[in-house]
Amino acid sequence: MRVAMIGTGYVGLVSGACMADFGHHITCVDKDGDKIAMLNCGEIPIYEPGLHDLVRANAEQGRLAFTTDLKGTVAAADAVFIAVGTPSRRGDGHADLAYVYEAAREIAAALAGFTVVIVKSTVPVGTGDEVERILQETAPEKEAAVASNPEFLREGAAVHDFKHPDRIVVGTEDARAREVVAEIYRPLSLSRPPILYTSRRNAELIKYAANAFLATKITFINEIADLCEKVGADVQEIARGIGLDNRIGSKFLHAGPGFGGSCFPKDVRALIKTAQDHDVPLRIVEAVASVNETRKRAMARKVAAMFGDGLRGKAVAVLGLAFKPNTDDMREAPAIALITALQDMGARVRAYDPASIEQAKGVLENVTYGANAYECADGADALVIATEWEQFRALDLKRLRKLMARPVIIDLRNIYPPEEISRYGFDYACIGRSASPRKQPKLERRKA
Ligand SMILES: NC(=O)c1ccc[n+]([C@@H]2O[C@H](COP(=O)([O-])OP(=O)(O)OC[C@H]3O[C@@H](n4cnc5c(N)ncnc54)[C@H](O)[C@@H]3O)[C@@H](O)[C@H]2O)c1
Repeated sequence: MRVAMIGTGYVGLVSGACMADFGHHITCVDKDGDKIAMLNCGEIPIYEPGLHDLVRANAEQGRLAFTTDLKGTVAAADAVFIAVGTPSRRGDGHADLAYVYEAAREIAAALAGFTVVIVKSTVPVGTGDEVERILQETAPEKEAAVASNPEFLREGAAVHDFKHPDRIVVGTEDARAREVVAEIYRPLSLSRPPILYTSRRNAELIKYAANAFLATKITFINEIADLCEKVGADVQEIARGIGLDNRIGSKFLHAGPGFGGSCFPKDVRALIKTAQDHDVPLRIVEAVASVNETRKRAMARKVAAMFGDGLRGKAVAVLGLAFKPNTDDMREAPAIALITALQDMGARVRAYDPASIEQAKGVLENVTYGANAYECADGADALVIATEWEQFRALDLKRLRKLMARPVIIDLRNIYPPEEISRYGFDYACIGRSASPRKQPKLERRKA
């Protein structure tokens, strides 16, 4: 099967490399010439574990190629995936479909023979109809079928997720399109992931409903965490206690600084807009968006609360900038709102992240970057853990205690047991747990 992947970003590159690894012939197209040049030199433009080896091996074996030539690639393909970005549209929060429609027009002009066009980008319900209309209008003489195949991979675990999906969703009413998509995913049949064949509109909406649900789960536990702090409860115990219920499940119940990243915030906004356009306000999802937005900045107040005299002039070290570990993606990372708010309060911010410092430089101003966690913490009045990279889980606390001007740690990911941190003489704050449990056993005391 010859496949064209239009858009060689986080989704297009991972999907393309994994499909090549299945044995298909994939050509990844991008209009960003620098990205394609890098890939053709064996360099990977993003940080994603396992991707480098996968790309190199499949490129060497001649199954994976990179080009800016959309026309020639599409003309030779049996299937064309659209995996371009769908960011929030500036000003109103709708999904910006300009890249999708532009790709559709370019594809239409290049089609040769029956081709299945598969929209992998996350797009509002009904976008497939518009892509179909564009194809028919631009190239009425050419034959194509449009399918939806939303992607559910997680950055940081993208290769694993693509190869071991919980499910594959295929939205099409066209039998030939269904057959082509089935053939693309056939190599996965050994691990038997459920393939849900459904209508195109259903497939489009499944993706948004899934992301909105997960965002709701995170926001729910974040609010429960706030309550825990007031009543002397431990949100990790609550999460475990409810997560053991199979109807709830334990995933996405980690309280933290609010969700960020390239998908949840924009997809939640886009779903709200779609629903409003159809006069069906999604009040729960609207609440999720607004609670989450306020939360990110509120994390800076948590830092300020550690000092009686505010943050003006204080040096705050922030560990972790990417929106989650194992990625360099800074899109809507909670660290951005946190750092901006810290700076607004007068703090001097230094930061360290294992993968995203270059990206951070493009979005943050007046931040000093350390070469590692210890250099970042040297002389700091407070250390904030904003992203739970593995390498922050076992910091040398003794060394940190010596390096820092004041022993203050704010752990926004709850990666340390409060007792352990206190043993080293740190003032410690975390999310939804008492920093020193022995001080607040109100409920236990009442029982006794
Ligand atoms: N990143 C994720 O974890 C993730 C997960 C699931 C779904 N998605 C969805 O997948 C889509 C892509 O996301 P991403 O994170 O890979 O985006 P991205 O911004 O990393 O990559 C998009 C790429 O498309 C290219 N592009 C845009 N228009 C083009 C055109 N006409 N021809 C060729 N190339 C073009 C851009 O240059 C860019 O390299 C989005 O809709 C997103 O919501 C993303």
